[in-house]
Amino acid sequence: MEVIKTISDLKDFIKDYNNVSLVPTMGALHEGHGALIKKAITEKTQNEKVIVSIFVNPIQFGPGEDFNKYPRTLNEDVIFCEELGVDVVFAPNAATMYGISSDENDNVHLSNNYLTYVCPPYLLVDKLCGKSRVGHFDGVATVVLKLFNITQAKKAYFGQKDAQQLFLIKKMVKDLNLDVDIKSVPIVRDKNGLALSSRNKYLDEDGYNKALTLNKMLNKVKELYDKGVVNVKILFEEAILLNNDDKVEIEYFEFLDFNNLEPVNIVTKNTIVAIAAKVNKIRLIDNMIF
Ligand code: PAJ
Repeated sequence: MEVIKTISDLKDFIKDYNNVSLVPTMGALHEGHGALIKKAITEKTQNEKVIVSIFVNPIQFGPGEDFNKYPRTLNEDVIFCEELGVDVVFAPNAATMYGISSDENDNVHLSNNYLTYVCPPYLLVDKLCGKSRVGHFDGVATVVLKLFNITQAKKAYFGQKDAQQLFLIKKMVKDLNLDVDIKSVPIVRDKNGLALSSRNKYLDEDGYNKALTLNKMLNKVKELYDKGVVNVKILFEEAILLNNDDKVEIEYFEFLDFNNLEPVNIVTKNTIVAIAAKVNKIRLIDNMIF
C-alpha cells in the first residue's frame, strides 16, 4: 500500500489505472469507515484501485467547532487501511489542498473571498445538521468535488450515518453532471447500538451511557412502526419519552422524506428519522431510514 501526500504523486499513481474508487474520510478510522472500505474492495473490478483519502478539511468546520481538537491518528489509520487491503492512502495537508501557506484553519484565505466554493441548494442545506452548522455543507461539497477531480474516481463510498451529507453529495453529482457513482453504506454500530463516530472518542463513561439514548429513540420508533404505528406525532411523543431527565440535549428529532428532505406526517418507505443531540457538549448524530 502506498501513502501519498501530494496531488502530483497521486496523479502519477492513477495514470496507470483505468478505474479508481474513493473512500473520503477525515481519519481517526473505525469500523464504520471500515465498512465503506470493505465494500469498495469487494466491488473492485480488474485494474481498479481503492483510494482512501484522509484529510481533516478545515473549511467544513465552523468557528467554535472541533477542528483543532479533531482526532488525528494517521499512523494507526495507515495500518488500518493496509490490513484491509487498500491500495493508496491519500493524506494531503491543507496547504496542498488549498494552496495556503500553513496547515492551520486560516479563516481569511480559506473563505469564499479567496476560494471557489460549491454550494448545495440552500433549501436542502437549511435543515437537519445544516441549520446549526452554517457553511458546513459548502465545505463538504467543495472538498468532495476536489477529491473527485484529483482522484478521477468513478465510484465513491459514503455512509448513511451522515445522511444529509450523502443526500447532498448525490444531488451535487446529479446537478453538476459528475461521472461518479455514489455508493451508500448502512450505519455501523457498536455492541450497544451506538453509531460509530470518530467523535465517540470524546465521550467518558457517563457520556457514553447517555449517548445510547439516540439509538434507543430510533429503536422505539421502529418497534412501534413494526406494530403498525405510522403517525409521526405519536411516534415522536413516544420516542422522546426515552430522553427523560434530559439525558441528551436534542438539537433535532425529525421525520423526513429521504427523496426530498421534506417533513412527513406519516412514516412510509424511504422516510428518514434523524436525530442530533449534544451529550456533555459533544455533538452526535444518528438516523434510521425505512
Ligand atoms: P468522516 O466523518 O471521517 O466520515 C467518512 C465517511 O465514513 C462518511 O461517508 C461517513 O458517513 C462514514 N461513516 C462514519 N461513521 C460511520 C458509521 N458508523 N457507519 C457507516 N458509515 C460511517 O464524513 C466525513 O468524514 C467528511 O465530511 C468527508 C466526506 C470526508 C469530507 O471531508
